Amino acid sequence: MIEFKNVSFRYSNEEGAPYALADISLNISRGELAVVVGANGSGKSTMARLLNCLLVPTAGKVFIDGMDTSADENIWKIRKKVGFVFQNPENQIVGTVVENDVAFAPENLGLPESEIEERVSYALEAVGLIGRREFMTAHLSGGQKQRLAIAGVLAMKPDILVLDEPTAMLDARGRDSIIRLILKIKNELKITVVLITHFMENALIGDKLICLEDGFARYAGAPHAFFMKGGEFISKFNLKQPFAYELLNILGERGIRFAERDYIRASDPAQLGAIIMGAVKNAR
Ligand SMILES: Nc1ncnc2c1ncn2[C@@H]1O[C@H](COP(=O)(O)OP(=O)(O)OP(=O)(O)O)[C@@H](O)[C@H]1O
Ligand SMILES: [Mg+2]
Repeated sequence: MIEFKNVSFRYSNEEGAPYALADISLNISRGELAVVVGANGSGKSTMARLLNCLLVPTAGKVFIDGMDTSADENIWKIRKKVGFVFQNPENQIVGTVVENDVAFAPENLGLPESEIEERVSYALEAVGLIGRREFMTAHLSGGQKQRLAIAGVLAMKPDILVLDEPTAMLDARGRDSIIRLILKIKNELKITVVLITHFMENALIGDKLICLEDGFARYAGAPHAFFMKGGEFISKFNLKQPFAYELLNILGERGIRFAERDYIRASDPAQLGAIIMGAVKNAR
């Protein structure tokens, strides 16, 4: 469980320095997949850095499974719990051979050889790179490199995985494969996931959507209910609506009413035709 209690943060203590985060209070439950969205500079990466004690709040508290991130005695326990994946996998890959790269962090923990081997296989299996364990890391594609970076973190057996724009450098297919992997990590490995993204279609995979604006959390709740608030509301945050919701909202403005359950179903684009046909029939 992740808890933000009236969290504010600024990078400088100088008087008048701006707040990167302002009075944020929210929870992310164990096993939940939370997606964080917001314009450039809205505070998403700052929020992520508060999760593993890279930063501590200027005011308020962050708790990870009840542990206060600002207490020195908790830092190492929290860092073992919270794994990080960034935009550019090149910055996270340290080994020249796939399996050695994944073994690097567990080796540093001083784990026995058999445990290291077990974790490397577990992590490579999870990300679908087990068949490439003896590959040179330099020969992997961008999408495979990002999956390798995720394997490196999974080998640490984290309870929480934080991904800060992990698909920003990938093409559509690479992005889809990472999103499928994130869902698998949540559903099968039961890891709590915090995903920061600019791709609004991907915002729909969350159990919870968090929208930041100028350091304030303007929304924290079900993704469909955010998009139900309409195009004008969403564009205020410099965000683009996922196609299905844009269509529903435009039709809504023209008088075709959609119920909340239509918005819930619309997170699956395959349902869109049936949803619209149903609403048009009702409008007649
Ligand atoms: N190391 C730093 N020193 C000073 N100010 C910083 C630092 N890092 C971020 N900031 C400021 O804090 C605010 C929030 O930045 P942050 O990186 O958290 O935004 P973000 O939502 O992740 O943006 P992006 O979408 O561009 O990644 C911005 O105004 C930014 O300029
Ligand atoms: Mg960022």
